[in-house]
Amino acid sequence: MRLAVNIDHIATLRNARNEQQPDPVTAAAIAELGGASGIVCHLREDRRHIRDHDLERLRESVTTKLDLEMAMTEEMQQIAIRTKPELITLVPEKRQELTTEGGFDIVNNFDSLVEFIKPVQGAGIEVSLFIEPEKEAVLLAAKAGADLVELHTGPYSLKKTTSDIEAEIRRIRTAAKFARDSGLRVVAGHGLNYYNILPFRTIEEIEEVSIGHALIARATMTGLEAAVRDMLRTINT
Ligand code: PXP
Repeated sequence: MRLAVNIDHIATLRNARNEQQPDPVTAAAIAELGGASGIVCHLREDRRHIRDHDLERLRESVTTKLDLEMAMTEEMQQIAIRTKPELITLVPEKRQELTTEGGFDIVNNFDSLVEFIKPVQGAGIEVSLFIEPEKEAVLLAAKAGADLVELHTGPYSLKKTTSDIEAEIRRIRTAAKFARDSGLRVVAGHGLNYYNILPFRTIEEIEEVSIGHALIARATMTGLEAAVRDMLRTINT
């Protein structure tokens, strides 16, 4: 299974001080060195993490696959066509949310989705839809002409009891199989971490997972000791 790395939270940290560091583009290069199969960034309407200039620089430096997560708006469509990431992932976007809540509402947006996708694919960009792991959503994604679906694992990541967790894994497994049988490639993401990722090793239809927060959270912990040592060496030599 491949790992696509979302670097939004590096930008969040940088933006907390409105300075240059840490640089999400450098982080993307480090993630690629670590074996990431792709770099994911979400250009939000409010630009709360990745900004337009970051996206331009990412396009120049990412050598694996750039996945632009975005809302289905005209502004984003133009940015995507101009920037040409290998892939866009359409997500619903609410200004007040902390992170993406819920999958793309494909039932109520079907006609506009079909029209939205055409020029994007015409520019040579693949289209993924972030959807709930449900049969109807998968069917409509295939019908709309998506290349991939990203199954939303957020609800799974919030389950507490074993039976709820197992039920959610069954739901994801069934949707993944159904999507593959419908001719779609399948990835998954949201809320995945070093513990809850384990059952995904047995869902062979899912070819890639997209992870951000857990990786960046871990990097701050595993990197902190070295950072303190570096500073001590700097001030004492
Ligand atoms: N996939 C999608 C569609 C997302 O919106 C996000 C969050 O930006 C992720 C994956 C990554 O989620 P997390 O940061 O919880 O790993």
